[in-house]
Parts: sequence; C-alpha cells; structure tokens
Amino acid sequence: MKAEIRYQSRGGNTLAVAQEISKILNIPQAPIEEKLPDMVDLLFIGGGVYMFDIDKNMKKFLDSLSYEKVKAVAIFTTSGHINGTGKMADYLKDKGIDVLDSLSFKAGVRNYHLFGGQGTLKLTQDDKGIIQVFVDKVVGKVG
Ligand SMILES: Cc1cc2nc3c(=O)[nH]c(=O)nc-3n(C[C@H](O)[C@H](O)[C@H](O)COP(=O)(O)O)c2cc1C
Repeated sequence: MKAEIRYQSRGGNTLAVAQEISKILNIPQAPIEEKLPDMVDLLFIGGGVYMFDIDKNMKKFLDSLSYEKVKAVAIFTTSGHINGTGKMADYLKDKGIDVLDSLSFKAGVRNYHLFGGQGTLKLTQDDKGIIQVFVDKVVGKVG
C-alpha cells in the first residue's frame, strides 16, 4: 500500500500531528507543496483552521486531487476549538475519493499565536493516544 502524508501548517500544530502520524506509519510527512507520486492508495491530509476556515492553499491542494491519483484519504485538522474537517471534506465531494476517517484535533489555547510561529506543538501522551486511535482506524479500513 502506498501511503503519503501532506500537511499545511502556519504555526506548527498541524505539523506536530503530521509528525506523529509519520512516526506511527514510518513514512515521511511533507508540506502540501510537495508533489505527490502518480498513484497513492491512502493520503493523510492535515491543515489548520483560521478564522473559521481552512487555508486557501489547502483549498487549492484539495481541488487538485483526483481519484485517478488518490484512492482514499484521511483528513485531520488542528484548531483552537472548531471542527474543520467537514470544510476539507467539502472540497473532495463528487471526486469519488473515499474519505475513510477524519480527526479534528483541538489544541485550545496551547501554542496559540496570531503573529508568526512559536515552534511545534508539544504533544502529550493523551494527544498521541488520540492520534494513534485515528491512524489505527484508518489503516484498519484500508486493510
Ligand atoms: C489567524 C488565526 C485564526 C484562527 N482562527 C481560528 C478559528 O476560527 N477557530 C478555531 O477553532 N481556531 C482558530 N485558530 C487556532 C488555530 O486553528 C490553531 O492554532 C491551529 O492548530 C493552527 O494550526 P497550525 O499551527 O498548524 O497553523 C486560529 C489561529 C490563527 C493564528
């Protein structure tokens, strides 16, 4: 199975979750700007939530995906408190790409910053457990 991880992160929180998924699956994570291979069985896509919306580059990335290249996706967002995964899934509607599962990771005010990054979010054991359950569920669906 060919699996890939792509993320968009302004402040490091989504990157931290992508890194954890990377550790679990033992595959590298890369920003959405990095080209995907011609065929992907499972793509983990993660992004942040900003002013109740997802990043415009993430929207473009999601628009660019097609079933010919990507068979299934697992979506994750990080936010202060709102669930942004539905917004990401909206961009995949009618593409025939299977959305296997989604994780809305809420960081509250941890590592919150309006102006520039302050390093990657430090994940707790509980955070890591939540991410592990998400990854296990997704991988279980792919078989
Ligand atoms: C400019 C800005 C706007 C934000 N707007 C929201 C929001 O509307 N709702 C929310 O729950 N969190 C909001 N947040 C919090 C971010 O979603 C949260 O810090 C997220 O983990 C950022 O991901 P990143 O560090 O990967 O960029 C905002 C953060 C910033 C910097």
